[in-house]
Amino acid sequence: MADNSDYKSQLDLSRLPRHIAIIMDGNGRWAKQRGKPRVFGHHHGVTSVREVTEAAAEIGVKYLTLYAFSTENWNRPSTEVTALMTLLVQTIYSEVETLNKNDIRLQAIGDLDRLPKKTRQALEDGIEKTRNNGRMTLVLALNYSSKWEILHAVGKIAGKIRDGKLKPEQIDEKVFEKELCTNDIPDPELMIRTSGERRLSNFLLWQLAYAEFYFTETFWPDFRKNDFYKAVCDFQHRERRFGKTSEQIQ
Ligand code: FPP
Repeated sequence: MADNSDYKSQLDLSRLPRHIAIIMDGNGRWAKQRGKPRVFGHHHGVTSVREVTEAAAEIGVKYLTLYAFSTENWNRPSTEVTALMTLLVQTIYSEVETLNKNDIRLQAIGDLDRLPKKTRQALEDGIEKTRNNGRMTLVLALNYSSKWEILHAVGKIAGKIRDGKLKPEQIDEKVFEKELCTNDIPDPELMIRTSGERRLSNFLLWQLAYAEFYFTETFWPDFRKNDFYKAVCDFQHRERRFGKTSEQIQ
C-alpha cells in the first residue's frame, strides 16, 4: 500500500542524526522484476543516490555514507563489475558541479589503492574539487570491507609499536579509531538497509556499535526522499540508552 504521509513535516530538526549510513540494496531484484539486466537497476539506483543526497542535505544531516561497492562485490560477473565501475566514474564526473552548487564535500572510504585507475582518478578529482564545501559530507564506501579496515588499522598500530612510537598500554578507542578510514568522521547514528535484507554485510562494524538500524522492503531504485524522511522519523521515535536505563536518560 502506498504511504502518502509527509514525513518531512513530522521531523524534529533539532534532533537529527549527524551521520546516516546506507546499504543500497535490491538493484538486481528491481531490474529482474522488470525483465531487465541487473545493470539496469544500478543505473536507476543513481537517481535514488541523487534524491537521498539532496534529502539529507536539505534537512541538515552532516554526513551521509553510501555503501557503493564492497570488497566482496569483485566476485560478481565481470560484466557487472565493469558496468558498476563505469557508472561510478560517469556519476562522479557528472555530479561534481551539483555537489559544488549544494556545498557538499565528497569523501571516500575503503581500499581505494586497489580500485581501477579510472575510478580512482574520478574519485580523487571529485574529492579535490569539492574539498572546501561545508554543508554536508557525502562519503562513498568503495572497495570497502569492515574486516579489511580493522585489520589494516591493527597493522598500522603494530607498525607504530615496532617503531617505538606507541606502547601497547596506550591503545584505547581513540588511538584505534585514528587508524580507521573514518578517523575524522563521527560514527553513524542511523543505518538504513533497503530491499528487505537484514544484515550488516561487513559494513562499518566498529562504527555502527551504537547505531539504530532501519530496514525497509523497498528496493533501492524505488527509494525516494519521503522514504528517507520516514527512516529518520522512525529513528526519532526510538529511545537510545547507550547501556543505561530508561530512567537514567530521562
Ligand atoms: C546493491 O544491489 C547495489 C550495489 C552493489 C551497487 C550500488 C551502486 C549504485 C546505486 C550505483 C552508483 C552509486 C554511486 C554512489 C554513484 P544488488 O545488486 O546487490 O541487488 P540485489 O540484492 O537485488 O541483487
